[in-house]
Amino acid sequence: MVARIIPVESFDLVIFGGTGDLARRKILPSLFRRFVAGQIPDASRIIGAARSDLDGAGYRTMIEAALTEFLEPADRPADVVADFLKHLDYVAVDAKGDDGWDELRGKLRDDKIRSFYLSVGPSLFGDISRRLSQKGLATPESRIVVEKPLGHDLASARDLNSQLSESFAENQIYRIDHYLGKETVQNLMALRFANALFEPVWNSQHIDSIQITVAESIGVKGRGAYYDRSGAMRDMVQNHMMQLLCLTAMEPPSHFDPDAVRDEKLKVIRALQPVPMTDIVRGQYRAGNGEDSYRDHAENQDSTTESFVAIKAEVANWRWAGTPFYLRTGKRLRARVSEIAIQFKDVPHSIFDGEGPRKSNALIIRLQPDEGITLRMTIKEPGPGGMRLTDVPLDMTFAEALGPGVETADAYERLIMDVVRGNQTLFMRGDEVEAAWAWADQVIATWTSAKDVPQQYDAGSSGPEDSLALLHRDGRRWRDINS
Ligand code: BG6
Repeated sequence: MVARIIPVESFDLVIFGGTGDLARRKILPSLFRRFVAGQIPDASRIIGAARSDLDGAGYRTMIEAALTEFLEPADRPADVVADFLKHLDYVAVDAKGDDGWDELRGKLRDDKIRSFYLSVGPSLFGDISRRLSQKGLATPESRIVVEKPLGHDLASARDLNSQLSESFAENQIYRIDHYLGKETVQNLMALRFANALFEPVWNSQHIDSIQITVAESIGVKGRGAYYDRSGAMRDMVQNHMMQLLCLTAMEPPSHFDPDAVRDEKLKVIRALQPVPMTDIVRGQYRAGNGEDSYRDHAENQDSTTESFVAIKAEVANWRWAGTPFYLRTGKRLRARVSEIAIQFKDVPHSIFDGEGPRKSNALIIRLQPDEGITLRMTIKEPGPGGMRLTDVPLDMTFAEALGPGVETADAYERLIMDVVRGNQTLFMRGDEVEAAWAWADQVIATWTSAKDVPQQYDAGSSGPEDSLALLHRDGRRWRDINS
């Protein structure tokens, strides 16, 4: 099967922070891949904007080096790279001053949609968006793209939203959560809303519990200063895990359109109950299995920032009352695994005597790596000798099911093209971000007032012991973190 390419109109895309790490590592390589796929029309322009005193030629040299560094040789034929670079230009702009803005305006064309990607720290969102508007660069059709951290708490998130909304309307603001750009995360919606099979059983009457795991094997190396002020709750739960929870728990929207989808997600976040300390576990990795400890890389050697968090969350509505959502994420765990496991209830009455230990059905949606779906079923063990039951997986790996030729696009490729297309479905709305912070703030306030200290866990393990206890207490257990 070959992926279909949906054409877009030619565009002007300005990348503020165009010389930065994200631009070089993700944004430009993603644009290049879309160029290779034939999705970037000839008349499109990509303009880097940053403080560095470069010109167009200097910028093209920098991006050529970035493509060499971040793409495999086979993915970047020299002639295609040379063609792509022709679309690039650069303007040195002072985000907090007057320099460069007139020159940048001069490069933008009246007949093209303008998108402004703010690949800069949030402290510059207000300055840049204000100047875009005051200096006449933003038009009513323009789009602005921002990315996490979208605040540190509810107050700062509100502040950022209001700074952006001084110059841009909500339907012009594209807030990226790169998890929404992942193919498998979108597949969650296809699975739920394009198959009749699941909806009748997708509720607390049939589902015992849900586990959402985003386990990472990498540590915080190189990002200690940022991470120490953030921690797993702000870095992963408030945004990525929250999106996974929303897509799992939301009601079917009436259409796959931006506000219908986002309205339903917002309702889930608003239905989340405050979490008591007994339902929160924080952890921090210590040295183990030949790996450094969290504190080796933290800014503060006595840091009590969590590199792991597990939460028993409750969505208080008719669909989910009584079904716990266990969330777990951490760094330096045994393996890199992201999955959503739907654990169904047991049959109401067993007709088989002495059948042996048996598991109830589970649907496991693997987001990464090795994307796919597994349905755990009970069948009869083959052979004579009575009715013995056994648990088997019905496995589907997307790569195998879809066959060769299907490229898995990076999340940024999809999201940047959606900006250009003007489709906000996979972007967070301001009220959604604020509601997620309101819930996260409550969780953080709970552990702060309890003076909670994260439990240490070995690097390369499955996380702190207390997180196992969180489920044991309810007669359940986490699924193993295995690659
Ligand atoms: C980022 C976090 O948003 O997501 C990182 O800041 C984390 O700490 C990353 O490692 C995980 O993304 P992915 O796509 O590798 O699962």
